[in-house]
Amino acid sequence: MQKFISLQQIDELTTTIKKQISIQPMAGIILGSGLNGLADSVSDAVTIAYSDLPNFPVSTVHGHVGRFVIGMLEDKPVLVMQGRIHYYEGYTMGETTLPVRIMQRLHIPSLIVTNAAGGVNPDFSPGDVMLITDQLNLMGMSGLNPLMGPNLDELGPRFPDMSQPYDRALCDLTRKVAKEDKIALQEGVYAGLSGPSFESPADLRFLRLIGVDAVGMSTVPEVIVARHGGMRALGLSGISNKANLDGSTITTHEEVIEAGKVITPKIEKIIRGVLRGL
Ligand code: HPA
Repeated sequence: MQKFISLQQIDELTTTIKKQISIQPMAGIILGSGLNGLADSVSDAVTIAYSDLPNFPVSTVHGHVGRFVIGMLEDKPVLVMQGRIHYYEGYTMGETTLPVRIMQRLHIPSLIVTNAAGGVNPDFSPGDVMLITDQLNLMGMSGLNPLMGPNLDELGPRFPDMSQPYDRALCDLTRKVAKEDKIALQEGVYAGLSGPSFESPADLRFLRLIGVDAVGMSTVPEVIVARHGGMRALGLSGISNKANLDGSTITTHEEVIEAGKVITPKIEKIIRGVLRGL
């Protein structure tokens, strides 16, 4: 039987973090592959390495630093995850989404989640930023929902509504910010797969057929947990590569990291604008 995360575990970690910070973050920000740079812009920062937290999963992926950075961005108190935990690293769904539970117990009302994704929509190009308007929980459909196991009633309901995974008001604010900053913003549906292998051409044609615009290996479980816990979510995908629907090109992690360099300044601008508008 899978071991599930307990409320006590979550609260011990929350208390450990709380003791080290003196601000009340108003947004939790998860940085995806190649997008770590934003954390360096946080001022008056307290950093807490995941490896210094007891029983906390450590991100093993190249391009993920592995620490919380808590401080100010655009004069707003934020908690940034510099490096996220992926299911494919071998952690459980509970461990993968544990940071979001900690955010919830820190009473952080909003989650801003970013990721690197493959562009399945043929109109998308590497370097684009996509506002996630909805998500396809393909992992959950095959039994990998982070809410499986005993429901922790203190954290949320057994059967949470998922009619608005991404907060409409936050999406509107993001559109406004992007327009003001003259950043072209794509929009669409993000599909979360477990990875770590990239998709085959047949996988990608299937995803296109079912209405997917971007595909990646994260985000969906985190947003489900955030919504379960009553947090509002905003999602931004950095399109790092074009989906290879006919098998004519290959996709590499290096490409993902490289594209992050073009995407990071745009996502940073958007997040700064959103924070100002919060
Ligand atoms: N597929 C899945 N995840 C990804 C991709 C991709 O093409 N690019 C970046 N993350």
